[in-house]
Amino acid sequence: MSLTNFPAGGPSGPPVVKVTMPALQEMKRQGKPISSLTAYDYATSRLVDECGIDMILVGDSLAQVVLGYDNTLAVTLNEMLHHTRAVRRAVRRALLVADMPFGSYHGTVAEGVGNAVRFLKEAGAEAVKIEGPRIDLVRALTDAEIPVVGHLGLTPQSVHRMGGYRVQGKTAAAADQLRADAHAVAEAGAGVLVLEGVPREVAAQITAELEIPTIGIGAGPDCDGQILVFHDLVNLTFAPAAKFVRRYGDAAGLVRAAVEHYREDVEHRAFPSDEESYHLPAAAREALEQRKLRRA
Ligand code: KIV
Repeated sequence: MSLTNFPAGGPSGPPVVKVTMPALQEMKRQGKPISSLTAYDYATSRLVDECGIDMILVGDSLAQVVLGYDNTLAVTLNEMLHHTRAVRRAVRRALLVADMPFGSYHGTVAEGVGNAVRFLKEAGAEAVKIEGPRIDLVRALTDAEIPVVGHLGLTPQSVHRMGGYRVQGKTAAAADQLRADAHAVAEAGAGVLVLEGVPREVAAQITAELEIPTIGIGAGPDCDGQILVFHDLVNLTFAPAAKFVRRYGDAAGLVRAAVEHYREDVEHRAFPSDEESYHLPAAAREALEQRKLRRA
């Protein structure tokens, strides 16, 4: 048994001012930085939301950090829907974005729209994120009233085409292509653009040129907002951190210490204590004692 109800912020709690995609665009106009994190389950999403993060992405990075795969390619549409539903139950304030997994939008535009609809209809997402300059799909999703977060630069679903996880847009020609793609994605209707693994100078120029907010990861400080993978932020990845990651906490250390302490207490019969045990009411205890005496 575990209690997960909302003491405040629920139907009877104080009203929550919901973050929407237009609200993120307004933040850009006002020069307010946008904070964003990934999250994949109820407990962490709830903490992330209660800490005031503006945009929560159920990233397909869950393939790696939650499911233990080597890359993001294996995670399925149903797995992404399952995790998005869990996050939906926790998030009250942040804009909730679901990552469309590899293969779910790489066929026809109609298939991509159909799969995106499932994230909004069945899992409560408020936008979907797609990697690459898939202009026709961005336009079709926008026409279908599905808010789109674009994702350009180092797009992890292209790991095999890129030959590894490499910073993109490093030559003048590649930077020009990236800028052109960013404009095309925005013009097709994307409301937010994630820029991953691109030189600071290129991200800064794209950010200055676009009306929609850019959210950087490994793209320098000049983007309109920043996103990190939750597990990177709190050291739950079992690997050295990438250059762009800043670790703000050590959840691995915290969890290890707690689990080791618990194991030792169990092994030494130090847990549970009498105070942590349920007791019979006095009358029942007495009756039990009497029976024991009679049997003796
Ligand atoms: O899946 C993910 O976590 C992402 C972010 C890194 C942007 O796409």
